[in-house]
Amino acid sequence: MKKLWSGRFTGENEDWVDTFGASISFDHQMAKQDILGSLAHVKMLSHCGIITEDEGQQIKAGLKNLQEKLDHNKLTFTIQNEDIHLNLEALLHEEIGPVAGKLHTARSRNDQVATDMHLYLKETLTTVIEKIYQLRSVLVNKAAENIATIMPGYTHMQHAQPISFGHHLLAYYQMFTRDQKRMEENLQHTDISPLGAAALAGTTFPIDRQLTADELGFSYLYDNSLDAVSDRDFIIEYLSNASILMMHLSRFCEELILWSTHEFQFVEISDTFSTGSSIMPQKKNPDMAELIRGKTGRAYGNLVQLLTVMKGLPLAYNKDLQEDKEGMFDTSEAIISSLEIMSGLIETMKVNQTTMQKATEKDFSNATELADYLANKGIPFRQAHEIVGKLVLECIQQGNYLQDIPLKKYQEVSSVIEADVYDKLSATTAVKSRNSAGGTGFDQVKAQIEKARKELQN
Ligand code: ARG
Repeated sequence: MKKLWSGRFTGENEDWVDTFGASISFDHQMAKQDILGSLAHVKMLSHCGIITEDEGQQIKAGLKNLQEKLDHNKLTFTIQNEDIHLNLEALLHEEIGPVAGKLHTARSRNDQVATDMHLYLKETLTTVIEKIYQLRSVLVNKAAENIATIMPGYTHMQHAQPISFGHHLLAYYQMFTRDQKRMEENLQHTDISPLGAAALAGTTFPIDRQLTADELGFSYLYDNSLDAVSDRDFIIEYLSNASILMMHLSRFCEELILWSTHEFQFVEISDTFSTGSSIMPQKKNPDMAELIRGKTGRAYGNLVQLLTVMKGLPLAYNKDLQEDKEGMFDTSEAIISSLEIMSGLIETMKVNQTTMQKATEKDFSNATELADYLANKGIPFRQAHEIVGKLVLECIQQGNYLQDIPLKKYQEVSSVIEADVYDKLSATTAVKSRNSAGGTGFDQVKAQIEKARKELQN
């Protein structure tokens, strides 16, 4: 088959060159963006008198036909036409004849593909931001239902101090809020038009780059044509932001999986987001959470892949850059579906408030309370720590807990201890009194929720 670029060639490509070189199997996903870019470009060409008004109209009509066919899944792409740009140009030729050849005036596939990618990512980022926002809303609602739900807080996976489950959920709210901000910044950095950079050096035609940028809804223009065609920072930034996002989702999933075990039973993931086993009838597996955790690997992989593709590339365009797309598509699919699933999973999961609270009753997560109690009565904290440590050891040897020690025994240990110590040792009091800014105290959690709700309204 004769190639659109075959003028200076005498030989034909082997089939495997077509197969190896083609990107149509994946860049067809940017067909919509490619047509939009062409529509803007042709409008500019005729506006600037580079082609006649009539030619402009013919090309526009042809592109509109292609748009229509694309919407109805009626376009057939071929590997011989290599990529989405050449495929659409060949199809345009079928629509309107030789005048189709004027579309590529003052343009190269290099600025064309960069434009498509900016448009694609702008749209995707908007969806991603929306999905993160939804998850944040779900988290705040779930936290509001669980302000008074008490659970053990952990460090080193050991019971540390009791906390509000709402507080725990809001920690994730904070992470996803940062993720959303990063994606919003990413959107700004993507909102810049490379169109008109042509192959690498600009063009001799009197083009109007502002016109195409406005037409496509870009806020800025690349200032340097070499940068415009070879910059993929906006994608690397996206893959990096997506990796951080997936890392957050994965940590959360890890906790949900753990909390769903028979040993914990803190939460029950709804049937809709669980699966069974083909052999063990009793099983209810947290597959969705596991898959999100697993897909984090892809997100990291795609980031490292593109960083590696770019690291040795001289300016400006090199065909290596064709390898910038699949990771972006793959990561987008992974993060959008993970976010959607996570929102549904959190929204519908059952929180076993009693089990969580019980987990704080037969443990030593109130040891800090006793040390603080002594410190409040004037005993230096280091000494208080030592006293409580000894008491914990004795309890372990006797098989009981700090709240089981009789007052008489307490008063032998330290005369400052009074009957009010037992209230201090309760998990509820322990949580309630951590009222320092950002702490787990109920009032603090309520304040966090109020602030989060305001943020969500903006
Ligand atoms: N399919 C190519 C890509 O995705 C389009 C740009 C090709 N440019 C070129 N000079 N061969 O990167």
